Amino acid sequence: MKKLLALALLLNPLSGLANDAIGIPAKGGQPEYLFLDKVSREAAPSTAKMISDALSIGRLVIFAQMPKIGNPALADKGFGADVFAEQWQAALEAQLIDITPKQEALLEKLVWAGKLSMDINQDRINTPGVKYKHFLPAKWARETGLFFNAKTGVYTKQPSVNYRHPSNAPDANEKKVLTTLVQAGETATATGEFTQMGKQAVYRYFDPVKLMEPCLACHGKPKGELDMLGYEKDGMSAGDVVGMISVAIAVED
Ligand code: HEC
Repeated sequence: MKKLLALALLLNPLSGLANDAIGIPAKGGQPEYLFLDKVSREAAPSTAKMISDALSIGRLVIFAQMPKIGNPALADKGFGADVFAEQWQAALEAQLIDITPKQEALLEKLVWAGKLSMDINQDRINTPGVKYKHFLPAKWARETGLFFNAKTGVYTKQPSVNYRHPSNAPDANEKKVLTTLVQAGETATATGEFTQMGKQAVYRYFDPVKLMEPCLACHGKPKGELDMLGYEKDGMSAGDVVGMISVAIAVED
């Protein structure tokens, strides 16, 4: 074995790298922390809450269409970006009260991101003959968050107890908060804190996502049984905290 390794090092022109671990996160840097849209310390909590609430509401708008989206007999579902945005914006009305111009501008960018996700998923949503098309509220919120982050630098994520998408793996902070929220169960409420991400001062907001009856087909019982996508079910009940919407927004000091 040792001989083989020595031979490999000899033959490899980059042998200096051979002893370094491969596939670990790069140190330093601040890719996501290069926030474009910063808010004042005073406005940070309400802005983060507005973004989180808008994502939750958007998730519900998608959720309401799931029976139609999952109908294999239908091709065109008539649920394009504009139809979605109309429903989402109507549901967002209450959010617009007491909103600052800066918050309104951010919400506009979030709506743009949400529409973009709907747009790029049209072929998927309109595929006939397939019941499960891998389009659901969490996927919409993940992609919307990605586009929103690219445009604004504001970070959003849906860390969960048993996350299915790797980009929802909780960071240390999210893990700590999620543990508390899961323990609180049905009584869990949103929480937030001022902290740092890299060198950037941020406000982080965490809103629990609780399971409803229709979620249990995949996130319910019995734990470990495979759901329709082949993931192991989470073994949870309606009302349980399955995850959270996590928002981080840069504050200017
Ligand atoms: C058809 C099975 C299915 C149902 C029903 C379902 N989910 Fe999920 N859930 C998934 C899949 C698959 C993902 C990963 C989506 C992605 O990011 O592409 C996911 C992701 C999530 C996430 C983000 C964390 C992660 O796992 O990546 C949350 C939070 C979540 N679901 C909550 C819910 C809630 C709340 C409901 C009911 C409103 C629900 N789910 C219904 C399959 C399901």
